[in-house]
Amino acid sequence: MKLNLLVVAGDGIGPEVTREAVSVMQTVASASGHEISVTEKRIGGIAIDTDGTPLPADTLEAALASDAVFLGAVGGTKWNALPPNTRPEAGLLQLRSALGGFANLRPAFAIKELAVNSPLKVEVIEGADILFVRELLGGLYFGSPREWNKQTGEAWNTMRYTRDEIVRVARIAFQIAQKRSKKLTSVDKANVLEVSQLWRATVNEVAAEFPDVTLEHQLVDSMAMLLMSCPRNYDVVLTENLFGDILSDESAVITGSLGMLPSATIGGKVNLYEPIHGSAPDIAGKGLANPLGAILTGALVLRHSAGLEAEAQAIETAVRKVLEAGYRTADLARGNTTDFKVLSTTEMGKQVRETVSTLLSAQVS
Ligand code: IPM
Ligand code: MN
Repeated sequence: MKLNLLVVAGDGIGPEVTREAVSVMQTVASASGHEISVTEKRIGGIAIDTDGTPLPADTLEAALASDAVFLGAVGGTKWNALPPNTRPEAGLLQLRSALGGFANLRPAFAIKELAVNSPLKVEVIEGADILFVRELLGGLYFGSPREWNKQTGEAWNTMRYTRDEIVRVARIAFQIAQKRSKKLTSVDKANVLEVSQLWRATVNEVAAEFPDVTLEHQLVDSMAMLLMSCPRNYDVVLTENLFGDILSDESAVITGSLGMLPSATIGGKVNLYEPIHGSAPDIAGKGLANPLGAILTGALVLRHSAGLEAEAQAIETAVRKVLEAGYRTADLARGNTTDFKVLSTTEMGKQVRETVSTLLSAQVS
């Protein structure tokens, strides 16, 4: 198997965590006789500085010609004054829209070894394992009209969904729920918003195709509280774009660090993979960034775009083993640091590579 992977590492800690993720993916693929051929292009702030646009044409062309796209992170304080449509983030939104993936899969899981990092009580988070299915191409992010009218001092965005946009993402959420615990929670604000009433009615319609899945609806405000008070009650959670953006960051509290979580966007022409953390400009270039979210994102690339399930699992197991062995990046080394071996970004990458190589050679022999 040969996978043509486009890597757009972007800004801040994007390049450093992406480097480790790619090298883990390549180690695993080559150990099992596969090849990942990597092309690198610019996106985000670095592309604004070099090419004058956050998504240069050759990046977009390479993305559409690839088998999968891996994104590090975009954005940074340097570009904060720019209006939304020319900012680094606009490059990512244009890329998402061009690739067409509308279902963004974002897990939030508790990890036993990291429970001390969470401000939540261990008994609350223990065993929590949630998968958000966030609609990624609609809602306030893409709805028009949108404008900031500086003359009148008004600004507006539009939360707009069509029935078809809801049907397609709901089907994916139900299909995933069928393979997990057959429970789906759909999030909306149907007590206030027409768009949420359409959302709820449409999800109810789709539910008829999946009689084996139990569906419940939650309002987004109370869901924000429920996720923190009883995260184990939730399995697959379906949301529109902005609600999913907010709830998935909130739920990273269950894991203890945003630096641990991967994401995959499916359903379009080319899948897009991104760790859910941002560019963290304050720690960029210092070797402090946690590459594990990016490395686990690499596992998703192997699973969803290369059909390499055993290899994907090997990466996930290696990450767990590295944590069990007491290795931590700075963000994870809370509490009594003498119990931990605190590693830099590159050292953590190396630790995972060595562990995964050992795992794979044990499988072969
Ligand atoms: C995310 C990010 C993006 C989003 C930004 C960078 C455009 O916050 O992937 O969650 O809002 O979708
Ligand atoms: Mn976000």
